[in-house]
Amino acid sequence: MHPCKVGSAWKIQASAKLNLYLEILGPRADGFHALETLMVPVQLYDQLFYWPDNRLPLSLQVRDLRPGRRQLDQLGCDKENLVVRAARLLADSAGIAPFGRFDLVKRIPVRAGMGGGSSDAAAALQLANVAWGLGYTRQQLQPLAAELGSDVPFFLESTAAICRGRGEQVQPVVGLPRLHFVIATPPEGLSTAEVFGEARKFDYSESMVSDSQTKIAKLVAALQCGAIAEAASGMTNRLEDAATRLAPWLTQIRAIFRRAGCIAQFLTGSGSAYVGLARSAIHARQTAGKLRNLQTERGLGHVLATSSW
Ligand code: C5P
Repeated sequence: MHPCKVGSAWKIQASAKLNLYLEILGPRADGFHALETLMVPVQLYDQLFYWPDNRLPLSLQVRDLRPGRRQLDQLGCDKENLVVRAARLLADSAGIAPFGRFDLVKRIPVRAGMGGGSSDAAAALQLANVAWGLGYTRQQLQPLAAELGSDVPFFLESTAAICRGRGEQVQPVVGLPRLHFVIATPPEGLSTAEVFGEARKFDYSESMVSDSQTKIAKLVAALQCGAIAEAASGMTNRLEDAATRLAPWLTQIRAIFRRAGCIAQFLTGSGSAYVGLARSAIHARQTAGKLRNLQTERGLGHVLATSSW
């Protein structure tokens, strides 16, 4: 994820992420949850372009290339969009007036737990920083990223990482092998806030902190030495039960993934995308092909094969 110049515009790739492990350590006084998670970037990208024309007011156009959609949204200066919010936040912090046009090409499914909006926000911070010649370091951008969303700081690092706090404390992890995944993105997405709200009902205990530290360290060590089968047994997501209470059809998707021969299956983030770990890139593509041909009651949605990087 580095900005590059394309003619008079700037361009950056914004990757999706998967959570290989997610534990909730308890609710916090600020309404968020303390968590510990292992996230990896995967090879599925939105693209963000920026035209730094200072005669143009800040605006955003979105081209939606997600499967089944071919829309062109003129979002103008929609204050809710994370790209626009990121640009405004950076401009405020630098004491300048924001300007120019962003074009966002969307491929990452939304309300899927794959971090699309957060990744777009991190991309916008980096593009505007370069295009406006501000020269902020990554460390200087981190607090702005954390203000935009819990997952945004992870995307500034663009590497596998253990994230703690509410997700904004990022500890990069090196030496992981490339992993291959098959992912179902159900037509019905899930709201992060609602899934975390459901998880609030869970009984949290103090021992979860040390238990989780042991589990995540074992998972990372197994991955680093290529013991994928051992690692697979440690790929769990505490939000999966909460998400399944809100979307009971996830039970069926989990069973389908298990029957399809994945070596692990788990929800990513707060869902609704469901992930199967495959043995190889070929296995991931073959499994995706099999799942696309399945006739299910609700449908798995779009099924894709991808890898970490
Ligand atoms: O930080 P972000 O905007 O992605 O969070 C969306 C919502 O998810 C929050 O408003 C909160 O309800 C919930 N959340 C949480 N604990 C976290 C992260 C998110 O409860 N660690």
